[in-house]
Amino acid sequence: MRVAEHYYSERPTSPPRLGLLRCRLRGRDFEFLTSSGVFSHRRIDAGTRLLIESMILPEDGAALDLGCGYGPIGIVAAKLRPRLQVWMTDINQRAVALTLENARRNGAENVRVLAGPLYEPVEALSFDVILTNPPISAGIRKAVEPIIEGSIGHLRPGGSIQLVVRTTKGGRSLSALLERYYGGFEVIARGGGYRVLKAERS
Ligand SMILES: C[S@@+](CC[C@H](N)C(=O)[O-])C[C@H]1O[C@@H](n2cnc3c(N)ncnc32)[C@H](O)[C@@H]1O
Repeated sequence: MRVAEHYYSERPTSPPRLGLLRCRLRGRDFEFLTSSGVFSHRRIDAGTRLLIESMILPEDGAALDLGCGYGPIGIVAAKLRPRLQVWMTDINQRAVALTLENARRNGAENVRVLAGPLYEPVEALSFDVILTNPPISAGIRKAVEPIIEGSIGHLRPGGSIQLVVRTTKGGRSLSALLERYYGGFEVIARGGGYRVLKAERS
């Protein structure tokens, strides 16, 4: 039996159909190579854009873009904060290859891009900020809860997880998970049916 291909497939097998996205984010121009078989390959996702426009970044230290797709969140973070080391990971190997190419195209030198599930590629590392547009379609229990639960052990004291969610698709579950693992959160942006949530490690 053939397993259906999703944007979170480890190795997409469909022939890649490439595209080029040009967009302005945080007042700067970016260009991203995209492909079928990765998340939102025809246009930058509205939730991703809201997270990028509102994410709160330290001047230096380390950041993680978990589930980087073709790379928009981490690459913008790296360009905005040249002294920040940005780690970018995804389970989807096609997404990882695109992120590498997009880091090069946009001149983002302070990034490291790795393939693998959840925190496996960065197991020994800790971060000042973890950014994610989480894979809600892969399942809250299976994919999203482990991201939130695992974030605590990978954040430095005072560090934060910042994530975007569609208010009517996962919003309530995600809020409940942040309450459970962090004891609370704040909404740092909202718009177009999305919210950006931030929870801090004490
Ligand atoms: C909603 S997409 C966001 C992609 C990209 N950050 C963006 O905003 O365009 C979620 C990403 O998480 C990845 N993903 C799904 N399950 C994962 C897992 N267990 N570990 C790491 N990445 C995963 C998917 O492949 C996908 O690229």
